[in-house]
Amino acid sequence: DQVKMTHDRQRGSFSGRIGYVLAVAGSAVGLGNIWRFPYLAAKYGGGIFLLIYILLTATFGYVLIMSETSIGRMTRKSPVGAFEAFGKGKANKVGGWLNAVIPMLIVPYYSTIGGWVVKYLVEYIRGDVQVLAQDGYFGDFISDSWQAEFWFIIFAILIFAIILGGVENGVERMSKIMMPVLVVLAVVVTVYSVTRPGALEGVKYFLIPNFSHFSWMTVVAAMGQMFYSLSIAMGILYTYGSYTRKEMDLEKSTTQVEIFDTAIAILAGLMIIPAVFAFSGGDASNLQAGPSLMFITLPKVFASMGIGTAAGILFFVLVLLAALTSAVSLMETSVSTFMDELHWSRRKSCFLMAVIMLVLGTASSMGYGLLDFIKIFGMSFLDFFDFMTNSVMMPLAALATCILVTKVIGFDKIIKEIESSSAFKRKKLYVFCIKYLAPVCLIIILLSSIANVLG
Ligand code: PFF
Repeated sequence: DQVKMTHDRQRGSFSGRIGYVLAVAGSAVGLGNIWRFPYLAAKYGGGIFLLIYILLTATFGYVLIMSETSIGRMTRKSPVGAFEAFGKGKANKVGGWLNAVIPMLIVPYYSTIGGWVVKYLVEYIRGDVQVLAQDGYFGDFISDSWQAEFWFIIFAILIFAIILGGVENGVERMSKIMMPVLVVLAVVVTVYSVTRPGALEGVKYFLIPNFSHFSWMTVVAAMGQMFYSLSIAMGILYTYGSYTRKEMDLEKSTTQVEIFDTAIAILAGLMIIPAVFAFSGGDASNLQAGPSLMFITLPKVFASMGIGTAAGILFFVLVLLAALTSAVSLMETSVSTFMDELHWSRRKSCFLMAVIMLVLGTASSMGYGLLDFIKIFGMSFLDFFDFMTNSVMMPLAALATCILVTKVIGFDKIIKEIESSSAFKRKKLYVFCIKYLAPVCLIIILLSSIANVLG
């Protein structure tokens, strides 16, 4: 016990299960839930998409979370150290660094979008509902490079302020305050939205499975979204797992995180789909606007409402909390890798990440303005980083985890780690999914991304 105590004193840790679950839920619930999930659900079949999404979460998502967190706890390391704990060969090095580099590439562009959210919130607080709803407003804003850069830096400062506080005082404390507020806000905005006149049609479209809307793409899109939403394959779950104590029930925590994440995604669907449905007179095509939904379509919906300013403020506070807790998890993982691998202090590691943020985040923020002339494979910086990480690197990183579990560590050890705190109820499901289902899903995701680029 003495050893464990010294260890916990050196390496940060969560104080208990609630802190852990809220921190992981904070990581999972992000822009992916509020901005990405509703438009994908609307585009790929509504209720049937939701059904498939839930099935995948309970199988494919479940085993990946369980694997990453248990390996993190077993090794007490962020991804690089975790992989290398099972041999210092090349394959383990590549697998570990692949998982570790992903959050470093994501957090800069995620923070660019976080900056846009802060900007919109500030505008709503100033009361400019109609201005935000004007045609071309969003495009003009993001192509104004110094503005975009300014809001990006504001968002980045918020993240660093939390990260410098450490695991218990920074990440955990923030999650314990912000996540309950987020839930309350989500419920308030949803209730408001579904009680608008004409909203019911949208609710039906979103919730009732209609099998004629089913297509192969429904499954592929649901797979990709589940992956994105649960913060899998970004090193985060290794790192957060490494901050947990041996007696914590990993299986129960994982189930709670998945329920939390899915519930918020459903609420986001309920707040956005019916409102846009009612606004466009039952026409679903507005919903498929994709990324612009949150910054272009919704402001128009808010402007058409009587109390649009209040709705806008509540909604963007909600999005800001979601984005902030996710960005913090990406940053904590990156910082943790430097602390583990370079044996640097938290401060010094933060400084290195600040440099990376400044370079990549500025490229993302200015990619629609001053740096518009630079395109990588036809994409702006932000789109390129998003594509590289989500479509290429993350499926590979998750495959590396599957291989690590099945070929290197072996099920027995993982199962033992999980059972060290409580009975492992879904052991058979776990073994089956990590061996067969997860690799197959991952290969399908990879192939579909490749097809997307070529097509
Ligand atoms: N899981 C979070 C979300 O749904 O927004 C965080 C996240 C997902 C960050 C995907 C980055 C990312 F590429």
